[in-house]
Amino acid sequence: MKRYYFVIILLTFSYYASATGKVPSIIPLPSKIIMKEGTFNITPKTLIVIDDQTNGLIEVAHVFIAKLNSLMGTASEVLTFEAGRKYTNVIIFETKAVLFDSLGEEGYIMDITTKQLIITAASSKGIFYGLQSLWQLFPANIINPKLISKSYILPCLTIVDKPRFPWRGMLLDCCRHFMPKEVVLKYIDALSFYKMNRLHWHLTEDQAWRIEIKQYPNLTAFGSKRIEEDSSEYKGFYSQEDIKEIVAYAAIRNISIVPEIEMPGHAVAAIASYPYLSCTQEQLTIEPKWGVFKDVYCAGNDSVFQFLENVLNEVMTLFPFEYIHIGGDEVPKYRWDNCPKCTTLRNTLGLDNSDQLQQYFINRINNFLKKSQKKIIGWDEILDGGNLSNVTIQSWRGMEGAVKAAKTGNDAIVSPTSHAYFDAGVQAISLAKAYSFEPLPSELSGDEKKHVLGGECNIWTERITPANIDNMVFPRLLAMAEVLWSPKEQRNYVGFKKRVDKHYDILKQMRINYGFEDVPVVFNIHYVENKGFNIKLSSGQQGIKLFFSIENMNNKEYKPYTVPLTINSSFTIKAKANYKSVADTTLYIRKLVLHKALNKGMTLANPYSPNYEAAGNYALIDGLKGTANYRDGLWQGFQKQNMEAVVDLKKIMQVQFISAGFLQSAPSWIFYPEWVEFSGSVDGVIYTQISKIENTITMKSENTQIHDVETTFTPVPFRYIKVVAKNVGVCPPWHNGAGGEAWVFADEIIVK
Ligand code: ACM
Ligand code: ZN
Repeated sequence: MKRYYFVIILLTFSYYASATGKVPSIIPLPSKIIMKEGTFNITPKTLIVIDDQTNGLIEVAHVFIAKLNSLMGTASEVLTFEAGRKYTNVIIFETKAVLFDSLGEEGYIMDITTKQLIITAASSKGIFYGLQSLWQLFPANIINPKLISKSYILPCLTIVDKPRFPWRGMLLDCCRHFMPKEVVLKYIDALSFYKMNRLHWHLTEDQAWRIEIKQYPNLTAFGSKRIEEDSSEYKGFYSQEDIKEIVAYAAIRNISIVPEIEMPGHAVAAIASYPYLSCTQEQLTIEPKWGVFKDVYCAGNDSVFQFLENVLNEVMTLFPFEYIHIGGDEVPKYRWDNCPKCTTLRNTLGLDNSDQLQQYFINRINNFLKKSQKKIIGWDEILDGGNLSNVTIQSWRGMEGAVKAAKTGNDAIVSPTSHAYFDAGVQAISLAKAYSFEPLPSELSGDEKKHVLGGECNIWTERITPANIDNMVFPRLLAMAEVLWSPKEQRNYVGFKKRVDKHYDILKQMRINYGFEDVPVVFNIHYVENKGFNIKLSSGQQGIKLFFSIENMNNKEYKPYTVPLTINSSFTIKAKANYKSVADTTLYIRKLVLHKALNKGMTLANPYSPNYEAAGNYALIDGLKGTANYRDGLWQGFQKQNMEAVVDLKKIMQVQFISAGFLQSAPSWIFYPEWVEFSGSVDGVIYTQISKIENTITMKSENTQIHDVETTFTPVPFRYIKVVAKNVGVCPPWHNGAGGEAWVFADEIIVK
C-alpha cells in the first residue's frame, strides 16, 4: 500500500523540459534545430503510432514504450497508422524510403508541435537516433527509469539531423585488463545514447586471449590467465554465450561490434597456449608486462594459417557485422628474419624483406575472409610492406595511414594517438583537444575524402581497469561523438562545453564516474633570487577547488589553495583537486631543491629531444626534480647521445657535493647511463675530474625507477661543473627493442 501512495504523489507532477524555448543541450549537436512556440504534453493518453512497414521499427517503438511505461506508470500500445484518421495527442514514428537520399540510413527529422511528435526517417536506425535526441529533451533522471512524472512537457521544435560519418566507434581493450560483461553493456548503452555505432572489441593480445573458441580450448583455459608480478593470477574471458548476448544487446542499440583478432603480432597469449604457432615453437608464458614482443605467429607454417582460419570461422559465427579487425600493428620481424620456415617462404615468394612477408600474411587472411563476404580492417602498419586492396586501414600513427589508404583506393578509419588515444590522460588530450580533432586529412581530395569512413577513440587498458575506465573515457567520449556526428562548420567548443555541463547529471544517472576535462592541477613554479621558490597553482578546468600540503614544514594536512606561496627552502608540495562529483585521488607532486646552481648558466654539448625538452635550457637547474613519470614534463631526454652539461655558477664557489638525477624505464628504451663523470673547472677550459661513477643497477628491471648519482668531496673552488652521462647507445640484444636507439633521461643537477 505504501508504494501505491508514493506513486500517486509522483503522478501529480509534470516535467517541463526547456519549455521556455531555450535550445536543448543535445550531444552530439544536431545539424539543425528550430525552436517553435508552445509545448507538447506526453501523458498516458498519448497514442504511439508507427507505420509498420519497416524492419526493426516495431522493436524500436517497443523499447520507447517500455521506457515511457517505467517513467509514467503507463503508456499506449504500439498502434498502426491509419490513413485519414485525425490524431491530436500522438507520437508517430514513420519511415519513408525516399528520405534516404537526403538523410541517409541514420538521419531523422523530429517535428514537435502542440498536437503531435513525429519522427521521420529513411530507416528504423534514423528513428532510433531521433529517439536518442528525444530523450535528451527529458530530465536527466529518466536515464535510470523509475516512475518520476505523470506527464512530460516538451518544447515544440523541428530537428533535422544526420551523421557526418558512418563509422563512429570506440575501441575497448579487454585484454590488458578484463572488462566484465556488465561494463561492456554499460558502455554499449552510453555509446548508443551519444549516437556512436561501432564497438571495436579488442579480444586477443600478448597478455590474454579473451574469446572462447570451441576448437581451441587452451586459448581460454590457459591463454586467458596470467601471473602478475605479485604472483597473483589475473584472468577473465567471454564465453560464446556471453558474446551472443552482448552482440544482441548491441544490435538493438544500433551498435555493430567489430571483433579484433590480432595477427601476426600481439599474439603471445595464443602462442603460449599452442606453442606450434610461433617460429621457435618454444613454450612461452602469457605476458604479464606491457609492450611489444618479438614472438609472433610464424608466417612460414601452414598450420598457423589453418589455426587462424578455424578461429576466424568461429568468430564469424558470433559476429554478424561485415568487418573483422585483424590487427597487424607493431610486428617485430626479428623471429621471421631468423626462422628457416619464414626464410624459405620469403625466398619462394621472391620477397625482399619481412615487411613484404607481412603483406603476404595479411593478403592470405584477407582472401580467406573475403570468401565469407567479410571485410578486414588492419592497423596502418599493414601497408608498410606495399599496397593492399580491399582493406580498411585504421590510422593510428598519425593520419598518414588514412592518407595512404585513401590514395590507394582503400577505406580508412582514423584514431591518431594525438587526439583519439584516451588511455592518455587529459594532460595529453584535454576535452578541448579531443573536440578539436578533424577526421578528414587536408591532403585528400574531395573524392579521396569519401574513403574516410569515420573514427574511433581508443581505450587501451594497460593503465585502465573497470575502476577508472569512466574517468578516462568521459567526458572526452562526448567530444568524439560530436566530432564524428555533427557538421564540422557547426562545431564550437564554447557551445559544446555549455552542453557538456548539462550532461554531467545524465552521466551520473548512467552511473558513469566521469573524470576531468583538463589537467586539474597546474604548477607554475620559479625561483626568485634571494627570495625563494614562488609557487602558483591553477587548474586547466573552471570550477575546480585545489588543496595543497607542504612537507618538510611540519604541516601535512591539505589546505585550500587561495594565493601564491613563496618558500625559501627545499620542500615537497602535494596538491589535489576536487570538482563536482569527480572522484580523483591523484596527488600532484613537485619536489624542489634549493642549491648553488639554481638558474645559473647551462650549456649542453648535445641537444635534448624536442619530445622531451622539459623546461628547455634551464630544465636541469630549475630546482624542480623529475617524478617517477617520464612524461611529467620535467625530464629532459637524450636519444642515442650522451647527456653532457656544463653548469656555470657565475662565480667561483666552494663546492663539495654534486648530484644528477636519472630515470630508467627499460620497456620505454630509457636506461640509466653506463657511467656518470663529474669534473670541475675555474676557467671553463681546464677541467679536473672529480669522480666517474659506473652504473651498478640492472637494466633488466621492468619498473620505472629514479636514481640520483651523487659525489661528495672535500670542498674545492670551482666556477664550472661538467656532468657527462654515458648513453648505453642501443637497446641490448635481450631487449624487445634490440638495436633501437636508447635514451638517457636526466633531471636536476644539484650543486652544493
Ligand atoms: C596501436 O596502438 N598499437 C594500434
Ligand atoms: Zn617462422
